[in-house]
Amino acid sequence: MTLGTPRIILETERLLIRSWVDADRDLFREINADPKVMEYFPFRRSHAESDALLDKLNGSIRETGLGFYALELTETAEPIGFCGLSLANMPEIFPKETVEIGWRLATRFWGKGYVTEAAGALLDFAFDEKSIQAVLAFAVEHNRRSTAVMQRIGMKPCPQMDFDHPRVPDTHPLLKRHVVYAAVSSRVTTA
Ligand SMILES: CC(C)(COP(=O)(O)OP(=O)(O)OC[C@H]1O[C@@H](n2cnc3c(N)ncnc32)[C@H](O)[C@@H]1OP(=O)(O)O)[C@@H](O)C(=O)NCCC(=O)NCCS
Repeated sequence: MTLGTPRIILETERLLIRSWVDADRDLFREINADPKVMEYFPFRRSHAESDALLDKLNGSIRETGLGFYALELTETAEPIGFCGLSLANMPEIFPKETVEIGWRLATRFWGKGYVTEAAGALLDFAFDEKSIQAVLAFAVEHNRRSTAVMQRIGMKPCPQMDFDHPRVPDTHPLLKRHVVYAAVSSRVTTA
């Protein structure tokens, strides 16, 4: 499948947040096969599986405007990973309309604040442009780098919502327990 021309979602100080293009396929394959990036996932993806997932992610962005968007470094025009807003698609755990924010970067781009920059801008986008009332994030409880992003963008822990991921097999008990963080739009008022 050809992914077409990019749809720009947002620009931040150092990043372009956009839909995917075919030139991103190598980077996406790389991150989905890297044991360090995938440390908290119970599987790795082959190149074919990675390409198929990219088609699916891009289809969601094209159809709904929401999805896991590509992050491009403005200075060099190279893709570095993804960050985005997506339906959580976990009916066993969350109501159908629940929106999650998620991220994944190639390791050489860790430690520079890129995901914090993208995710903070995307939370504002969710609340101000998409009228989303609340956004959740979840991660394996030991995934400190991911929960640190949640904390840096002002999300709050919701320990009463922590859960055992239904799609993590029992063969990976250390990857089952997930912690949940939430951000709520300032437009939501409580009576
Ligand atoms: C989770 C993940 C995206 C976080 O990456 P990260 O580089 O730690 O996060 P950021 O891009 O926000 O960068 C923050 C780091 O950059 C540093 N930094 C440098 N410049 C910065 C800036 N301008 N703003 C903020 N942080 C900055 C921070 O101090 C922090 O460093 P530290 O790790 O030493 O504390 C990355 O580890 C990853 O892809 N992991 C694998 C996939 C994964 O687990 N995804 C989540 C599944 S739920």
